Amino acid sequence: IPTRIFADPKEASKSVAKEIADLIRQKQKEGKNCVLGLATGSSPKTVYAELVRMHKEEGLSFKNVISFNLDEYYPMEPDAIQSYWRFMREQLFDHVDIPKENYFIPLGTLPQNAIAEFCNSYEAKIDALGGLDFQLLGIGGNGHIGFNEPGSLANSRTRLMMLDHSTRAAAIGDFGGELIKVPKKAITLGVSKILQAKRVVLLAWGERKAEVIAQAVEGRVTEHLPASYLQQHNNCLFVVDMAAATELK
Ligand code: F6R
Repeated sequence: IPTRIFADPKEASKSVAKEIADLIRQKQKEGKNCVLGLATGSSPKTVYAELVRMHKEEGLSFKNVISFNLDEYYPMEPDAIQSYWRFMREQLFDHVDIPKENYFIPLGTLPQNAIAEFCNSYEAKIDALGGLDFQLLGIGGNGHIGFNEPGSLANSRTRLMMLDHSTRAAAIGDFGGELIKVPKKAITLGVSKILQAKRVVLLAWGERKAEVIAQAVEGRVTEHLPASYLQQHNNCLFVVDMAAATELK
């Protein structure tokens, strides 16, 4: 997997934001929508901050952007502090001119028996728009992408997933330090939709990601490390800082 190593997350994020902005502008020129797959978590915050800056200072418009977020905890109220709906509004959507009806995030309030249909229609919406032009990813310490935990197959669809213990433990700080309060499940875009994106960029910052980055880039392709499936994507880039690159050969 091609990997670019930057001195720090800020420089790296500027480069990724520029790629996204260039794509949005190119699609605008062509009179087309730009279909983005977006991630939450700590890694993309600096990318969203740079996109907001470009909107405010450089007039970058999001009017032609249609976005699909990777995942949401289940259950989760959209206005809860930990919800990915709230995260996306606070980090990006409330600060740019994306129309409200243009962004989609899995709903953490669906009744159990409505989840399968919701997941099917989420994928159908993406397909109807011609697929994702660009997918932004983070990576879990266990190699998850979206919330496709180890064991997820390359052809997995959008679905309700049981979260790994390590994933829940990593989120504990957002839930008042109480593991019991971290949801046990999440709705996630499947691996197959991620792999169908025309371009994939994965972000990883810090020493805690060094080992999993080396495994994903240099190890074998295995369901035990879903990020390794990205070796099979023909237009994927890993963007890492120095600390996350230390285990690479
Ligand atoms: C979030 C997501 C997750 C995170 C991953 C890394 O939408 O899909 O896969 O990208 O858990 O999280 P951070 O960036 O907080 O280290």
